[in-house]
Amino acid sequence: MSSNVTTSGETPVYNTRVVKQFALMTVVWGIVGMLVGVIIAAELVWPDLNMQLPWLHFGRLRPLHTNAVIFAFGGCALFASVYHVVQRTCHTPLFCNWLAGFTFWGWQLIIVAAALTLPLGMTSGKEYAELEWPIDIAITLVWVSFSVVFFGTIIKRTTSHIYVANWFFGAFIIAVAVLHLGNSAAVPISLTKSYSAYGGAIDAMIQWWYGHNAVGFFLTAGFLGMMYYFVPKQAERPVYSYRLSIVHFWALIAVYIWAGPHHLMYSALPDWTQSLGMVMSLILLAPSWGGMINGMMTLSGAWHKLRYDPTLRFLVVSLSFYGMSTFEGPMMSIKTVNALSHNTDWTIGHVHSGALGWVAMVSIGMLYHLIPVLYKRSQMYSVQLINLHFWLSTIGTVLYIASMWVNGIAQGLMWRAFNTDGTLTYSFAESIEASYPGYYVRLLGGTIFLFGMFIMAYNVWRTVRGDEQKQMANAEVQAA
Ligand code: HEM
Ligand code: HEM
Repeated sequence: MSSNVTTSGETPVYNTRVVKQFALMTVVWGIVGMLVGVIIAAELVWPDLNMQLPWLHFGRLRPLHTNAVIFAFGGCALFASVYHVVQRTCHTPLFCNWLAGFTFWGWQLIIVAAALTLPLGMTSGKEYAELEWPIDIAITLVWVSFSVVFFGTIIKRTTSHIYVANWFFGAFIIAVAVLHLGNSAAVPISLTKSYSAYGGAIDAMIQWWYGHNAVGFFLTAGFLGMMYYFVPKQAERPVYSYRLSIVHFWALIAVYIWAGPHHLMYSALPDWTQSLGMVMSLILLAPSWGGMINGMMTLSGAWHKLRYDPTLRFLVVSLSFYGMSTFEGPMMSIKTVNALSHNTDWTIGHVHSGALGWVAMVSIGMLYHLIPVLYKRSQMYSVQLINLHFWLSTIGTVLYIASMWVNGIAQGLMWRAFNTDGTLTYSFAESIEASYPGYYVRLLGGTIFLFGMFIMAYNVWRTVRGDEQKQMANAEVQAA
């Protein structure tokens, strides 16, 4: 391992190598995952794009997209943040550098394995847990190593306190381990095929206990940990209310775990579990908004910085999308609303207001803060390009989710419209036809978002190379 990973005297020498590796791969996998997203969005407009090749089919590329954006892009962003934040807030280098290095190479290998097996049609058929059992075992090994590095660092900390971001990271790591082990239990029949250890309604229940908490702990708790470190850092203000952050933490993790059945409304699941899922989802609004408000209010006294700091804008707008999607989610879990929204593009819109607006934008803000710190530059190569990226991401996200709202509500209403004689007013094909304008707009929004990612890659590359910064100084940008 590199020389920057030892402790010299009183000053901790942090392991920046593994953080840099994960940070750079976040950009790479972000582009790959979103490119596949754009391709499948295009396939929904022009189905012939699959060229009749099985590995280009929507059904095979869709899980490739979800795995790439959630676990490759989101996962690398989380690894980078966890390793960076735990060292800085515990004032100690990582617990075991070679094991941290193993998590990097292991995770990349798993991503490559996913990218090869999913288009070939090897799948367990469980959403967000499609990878077959040998890869599941590899995930377990990497995740246990990740836990050892993280908790080992917490144990050897030189601070008396454990900063709240680490609480969220700890919950994310433990919960994902439990979910992965619980949901992946399967009976292998060959190297590339296994069947779930559960059957029928129990299998569905376990799957959505996993699926929903993958959202709750992977896409939410982990990124909230990121938010609690990078928003105060970028705003140069302490967290608005530390007490609220602790209440937020305990309330969020206590409630999330119960809400899974809102994915299975009107299914074979016992009715009381569906109602419980709905009630818990409604309660979830409170801790979610507690966290959102805490993040936003951290800007008290620093709102003016939004005028000239696009990195801070990324972070704040990500919080607004977090607030929006965590309002929308509880509404969609109300049974009568779900009767309209379920199986429509409304769900896809909700997913992407969380995924693009919250997860991607907070990660992008994190990277724009982190890259200059890691490479010891005063700031990113071009602040103007960050600003351009910010607008492309915001416009892309709004186009995506607005088009899916329109499509979703139209589909829901068309599917439930009856004639007086009891026959359906519209055929399914007619509802698809009516969805086309929305599919074009979503494709446009996604392409704009992806274009922004290329701009980020260029900006990161120039920053890493140490090229002379051509942007105006902050003060000049402010004056402009
Ligand atoms: C350029 C950006 C993106 C585009 C164009 C895009 C496009 C798509 C498309 C077309 C689908 C399939 C929708 C359907 O089945 O009807 C999809 C599904 C999905 N995408 Fe994306 N996506 C993008 C970014 C992301 C990101 C960054 C994330 C996560 C961090 C994400 C997470 C998901 C998930 C979880 C689903 C499955 C939703 C469900 O099953 O309800 N996407 N995406
Ligand atoms: C208080 C918070 C939230 C609640 C109560 C909630 C609730 C819901 C509901 C009711 C559905 C529709 C289920 C269906 O009809 O099939 C859904 C789908 C989904 N939500 Fe949320 N949501 C919340 C926050 C979020 C956030 C922040 C994200 C992303 C970062 C997210 C990602 C997803 C995904 C990926 C799905 C689609 C799952 C699938 O069918 O494949 N949710 N959510």
